[in-house]
Amino acid sequence: MSVLRSGGPGSFTEQEDRVKMSQQLYLFEGIKMNPLFTSKEDLHRARDEFLVRDDDVIILTYPRSGTHWMIEILSLITSKGDPSWVQSVPSFLRSPWIENGTMMKALEEQDGPRLMTSHLPIHLFPKSYFTSNAKVIYVVRNPRDVLTSLYYLAKENKLWKQDSFDEYFNRFIQGDVIYGLWFDHILGWMERSDKKSFLVVFYEELQRDIRGSVEKICQFLGKNLEPEELDSVLHNSSFSVMKENKMVNSSLINQGFSAYTKAPILRQGISEDWKNHFTVAQSEAFDKLFREKLSHLGPRLFPWP
Ligand code: A3P
Repeated sequence: MSVLRSGGPGSFTEQEDRVKMSQQLYLFEGIKMNPLFTSKEDLHRARDEFLVRDDDVIILTYPRSGTHWMIEILSLITSKGDPSWVQSVPSFLRSPWIENGTMMKALEEQDGPRLMTSHLPIHLFPKSYFTSNAKVIYVVRNPRDVLTSLYYLAKENKLWKQDSFDEYFNRFIQGDVIYGLWFDHILGWMERSDKKSFLVVFYEELQRDIRGSVEKICQFLGKNLEPEELDSVLHNSSFSVMKENKMVNSSLINQGFSAYTKAPILRQGISEDWKNHFTVAQSEAFDKLFREKLSHLGPRLFPWP
């Protein structure tokens, strides 16, 4: 905690200074990035130097797909349902982000099995991962809800342009948003979906059957939970409990992740809010794009059309 929060090299104070110097998102190999969270140097170091270990567990997501929900679930599985860890340690210290220089350093210094998080597209991901036995959980959400959720995050962020929903829709479908085009992220990572060490988890499936989903995740990780431990994982990772947990949903977290935003990480926690935002024309345009980009992956891969 102190490494990240006290001033000095690599601290959030230093990152905030960096942002004051550069108030703009920037492009790295065609992908838009947040200078507060990730510098160009961090991206080079993450891809070329960061060493993924065989016993690492990595949460991968496109932003607003349920990253923090998965961090909470995996933290609670690790602590066998005991909530004291998730109640006392911020999520970004329980599962640090690879693409943030300070957190990458903390990960490098950590002994034992590590839990870590990333939004990086496959071509920017640490090269060492591809020859490791590390386990990845890739959380995927209906991109229409991702777009809607991201719009509310962007709206509150002083670094990002304050677009109308219509403008934001157009930027999202062109990939002119942080971490690039959703379709590219999915196409890149889904290539690995048949690997034994790569588990795809849908946000909507977590909502539909959280007990079955957590059991599947435990099986993937080779973890056994007693029934009361499993109950505690489910209770403490529920939307209502997470929303009250300052270690996941507070200004403390926002300072670390996307300073200058007032948007909560836990907003509504429902599916199909996009239907309250998309016009008929936008819905049709999105369906067409979805078919063009992803239909070759085969029918019924995703739990939404
Ligand atoms: P909404 O903005 O649609 O509410 P991420 O952690 O990747 O940034 O994703 C944030 C989204 O996941 C937000 O979506 C947030 O509300 C939702 N979320 C977080 N925890 C959740 C939970 N326990 N149950 C359901 N949704 C959750």
